[in-house]
Amino acid sequence: MITIHSIEEIRLYVEQAKQRGETIGFVPTMGFLHEGHGSLIDHARGDHQQVIVSIFVNPLQFGPNEDFDRYPRDLPKDQAFCEARGVDVIFAPSAKVMYGEEGALTRIHVDALGDHLCGASRPGHFDGVATVVAKLFNIVQPHRAYFGKKDFQQLSIVKRLVKDLSIPVEIIGVDIVREADGLAKSSRNAYLTPEDRTVAPELQQTLKRIQAKVAEGASDLDQLMEAERSRLASFERIRIDYLTCVDLLQLQPIHKLDVGEEGVCAIAAFVGNTRLIDNILLTR
Ligand code: PAJ
Repeated sequence: MITIHSIEEIRLYVEQAKQRGETIGFVPTMGFLHEGHGSLIDHARGDHQQVIVSIFVNPLQFGPNEDFDRYPRDLPKDQAFCEARGVDVIFAPSAKVMYGEEGALTRIHVDALGDHLCGASRPGHFDGVATVVAKLFNIVQPHRAYFGKKDFQQLSIVKRLVKDLSIPVEIIGVDIVREADGLAKSSRNAYLTPEDRTVAPELQQTLKRIQAKVAEGASDLDQLMEAERSRLASFERIRIDYLTCVDLLQLQPIHKLDVGEEGVCAIAAFVGNTRLIDNILLTR
């Protein structure tokens, strides 16, 4: 496994691999890798001769009061993780390599899909994500790219971006990987205090209760969510940002689910000072 820091070098590597007839699977990340990222890597490894993982904590997608500076970083550990997982190349550019001294003036904005849910409390976040993902696709030019369903709004935005801009890459969504107690794996779980960690599984518990009631036949989603909001209000360390049910295509809020319909129930909440997200598929 090799680590490449420059755009020219990764382009040359990919070009040579393609000349040999090899296909490229790509996993974009911000590093501090865990089993969630590992699952994306495993899917890419199973499908392609070449697996490229990018590690770049993208300043464009962090708000001024967010955790860019303290976002966890550990390249040597990530290199060992990728090596053990059979990755061929890590692409780890600096911000200067990606955006130059003067920064980027261009932003990609995916309308409608990015303005609510996480977009409402993180203005500009999805423009930063869409911009860096499009740029990484231009640099790496993979055949397929793998994204986790944990960030289901991000996954929808990336799929739409690729469609609207005719970027020749296939986007694969991969299931959420969880801790034994159901907490979705996340690099940000490293911020949780022991007390936070004890209550953090409540996020998934909330979603699972709503999912079960819908599967049993409940159709009034607002009523189900209201009951869960009251329940979560009793946890001193948890503060809900949103708990919303949306349709799978436009991610617009839905209030009812008829038999045979599907939706996603999504939650974002601060557990202590750490903002966590999770979601679950609803089927009636
Ligand atoms: P990051 O948070 O490092 O996540 C990289 C990829 O891993 C994303 O596609 C995310 O959905 C996936 N992932 C994270 N936790 C997961 C879990 N528990 N189960 C399954 N997949 C999981 O998402 C980003 O980085 C950035 O926004 C990025 C796309 C790299 C653009 O900067």
